[in-house]
Amino acid sequence: MKPTARQQYILALDQGTTSSRAIVFARDGGIVAAAQQEFTQHYPQAGWVEHDAREIWQTQLAVAQAVLRDNAIGASQIAAIGITNQRETTLLWDRLSGEPLQRAIVWQDRRTAGTCDALLRAGHAELFRQRTGLVIDAYFSGTKLKWLLDHTPGARQRAERGELAFGTIDSWLAWQLSGGRVHVTDASNASRTLLFDIRRQCWDEQLLALLDIPPAVLPQVVDSSGVITQIDSALLGAPIALAGIAGDQQAATFGQACLAPGMAKNTYGTGCFVLLNTGQQAMDSGQRMLATIGWRQLGQTTYLLEGSIFMAGATVQWLRDGLGLISSSDEIEALAASVPDSGGVYLVPAHAGLGAPYWDPYARAALLGMTRGSTRAHVARAALEAIAFQSADVLQAMETDAGNRLRELRVDGGAARNNLLLQFQADLLGVPVVRPQITETTALGAAYLAGLAVDFWHDEDELIALWRAERCFEPGMSDDQRATLLHGWRRAVGRCRHWVEA
Ligand code: G3P
Repeated sequence: MKPTARQQYILALDQGTTSSRAIVFARDGGIVAAAQQEFTQHYPQAGWVEHDAREIWQTQLAVAQAVLRDNAIGASQIAAIGITNQRETTLLWDRLSGEPLQRAIVWQDRRTAGTCDALLRAGHAELFRQRTGLVIDAYFSGTKLKWLLDHTPGARQRAERGELAFGTIDSWLAWQLSGGRVHVTDASNASRTLLFDIRRQCWDEQLLALLDIPPAVLPQVVDSSGVITQIDSALLGAPIALAGIAGDQQAATFGQACLAPGMAKNTYGTGCFVLLNTGQQAMDSGQRMLATIGWRQLGQTTYLLEGSIFMAGATVQWLRDGLGLISSSDEIEALAASVPDSGGVYLVPAHAGLGAPYWDPYARAALLGMTRGSTRAHVARAALEAIAFQSADVLQAMETDAGNRLRELRVDGGAARNNLLLQFQADLLGVPVVRPQITETTALGAAYLAGLAVDFWHDEDELIALWRAERCFEPGMSDDQRATLLHGWRRAVGRCRHWVEA
């Protein structure tokens, strides 16, 4: 299927943790128009985070309609739609009515930490790691789905009878866009469920049995790039091809054109997600990194190694909202730059436990190393440095796994605007950190995957040629200074581990 001359754009739907966005891209990869809407975060108990799936769909549809309407773009000018989404967030809905059974359980939600502990105590870590590439952690969908089935009266029986559908947010959007005709997820999202065998590329019966999940509830797993269906024409005014799906971090890796083995990107968003392309092989990590599916095209899979960090930009938000230390996030760079260093202060942002490489849900945040001379500027600087320290921990573990030094790190996400942070990151890693001209790489990656499927873009070489650096941060720190700083950071992390008693 070739795009017509009128079809000059691709529409990316970027359903993130705090907002739904729609971005229209042109053939040169440039942004033509964008719309965004935030939606409600629900925190019903300590450690719980929920989203209303209906609100997710309403905001996502509203921004898709608005971006076309407000910019006088006709649906017939869109060659294809790509979805990218917050990953792992878990939802069950009724196949007949299309109604969600409960609010979706968000990836940040820790309510299933006890289930994970029980699986670990029963000695299942290795089985899950070998099959799914993941560690057993409340972060992933599997235990969240089990929780929904356990805590919604009659749900498991109804799921067994095929009346219910499970999905991550991509499945939910594809279901809605198709008017309830397709129940799919792509391989990259499936690889975050703790239920999918990433090498055999199928739902794993043994893991499903361990979590007591009826197979009838699962979506069909499709390629990340490929026409899935035509969307319901009543939604945007034409039956546009839904032609790409990928989890947001995998999409960002694709959008950063990290298409060859050894290339890596870091997205500085709410959390930080470092992903390294490992080619056609899923890497068996000895460092507690995640092996995950990047994307699947024409049945061929590209694998990534991932280090997931839970608190990055969220640390700055906490300084603003929790401590009142700054009044807007943008203030942090100038405040941190007003001192030459953190004066020995370390902030370990383990507010939600620690992700890779520690995987410690019982760690808690701490500020260490303060003296009478410490000021809010030192704390602000320590907060920015903590983002870079966590990323350095992950990248060092990845280099050990891969047996290679990284050549450069491509960066994106909101906090990648912060030059002080990126310079410190380059200094700590000892490799150049490169920010591209287009930092909306998540949506761009989804657009690329959809565009490739309909021949809007012809091949990956074309995408590689579209990637352009905006600024490169060269490392400037001595090896001794770097080692001293990292040593201090690791001591600080050590103080925060296993703080909460299980
Ligand atoms: O794994 C969680 C990740 O997909 C969330 O990303 O950008 O919505 O915070 P973001």
